[in-house]
Amino acid sequence: MLSFLSECIVPAVTRLQNQNRSRFDAIAAQWDDSPMRSNMAKAVADAIIAAVPLKPHWHALEYGCGTGLVGLRLLPHLGHLLETDLSPGMLNVLSEKARAAGLERITTQVLDLTSSPPPEERFDLIFSSMALHHIPDVAALVSAFHSMLAPGGWVALADLDAEDGSFHGPDVPGVAHHGFDREIITGWLRAAGFGAIGIRTAHTIEKERDGRQRHYPIFLATGCRSQP
Ligand SMILES: C[S@@+](CC[C@H](N)C(=O)[O-])C[C@H]1O[C@@H](n2cnc3c(N)ncnc32)[C@H](O)[C@@H]1O
Repeated sequence: MLSFLSECIVPAVTRLQNQNRSRFDAIAAQWDDSPMRSNMAKAVADAIIAAVPLKPHWHALEYGCGTGLVGLRLLPHLGHLLETDLSPGMLNVLSEKARAAGLERITTQVLDLTSSPPPEERFDLIFSSMALHHIPDVAALVSAFHSMLAPGGWVALADLDAEDGSFHGPDVPGVAHHGFDREIITGWLRAAGFGAIGIRTAHTIEKERDGRQRHYPIFLATGCRSQP
């Protein structure tokens, strides 16, 4: 009875967070072994470099950074990078890579904006790759990103285009969205107050599903917080 009650009371968001933390902690050590992930990270980083006027003094935050596959490629173009994620296991892998490479302009922090307030500091760039589909209320997250940016700061968000659920399949826990409609994403950026909104295809992932080759495009949506 007690466990039945607690299962009903635990809010869906907390359940999703717990599923994601456990899953990504468990697979953190093997995350970088996949060429599919490093190819996608390179394509997303290249798309951000092409779309956003990065400056070498910028203070940037990556949300849902995982092991830093995207962030470490952008670091040479930035002044400082705060790498944040829900999963301490993913961040530990990233910290070890940064330590081994002697990188100093990078910091890691456990951060989950679905249950914690945004940090006080302001950023010139907030970017994220393949984390949005784990977040139930993406419109609220985009609005939080807007509040965390300095005037003139940029947001750059990469994730799956809307798909039929076959990308992850039925057995992967912690997935809140089967990708996104591009008009809905740009609508959330507009509603949050962003200008100069753009969206383009950054990459296409190919996977075999049910005996046939499937294509899953990845968008990169960008926007700028206006100057006062
Ligand atoms: C599919 S992985 C992508 C990791 C990395 N961005 C990459 O491209 O390799 C999704 C990441 O989002 C993180 N994540 C899931 N839910 C989150 C949340 N509520 N807040 C912050 N990070 C979250 C996971 O821990 C995981 O590292």
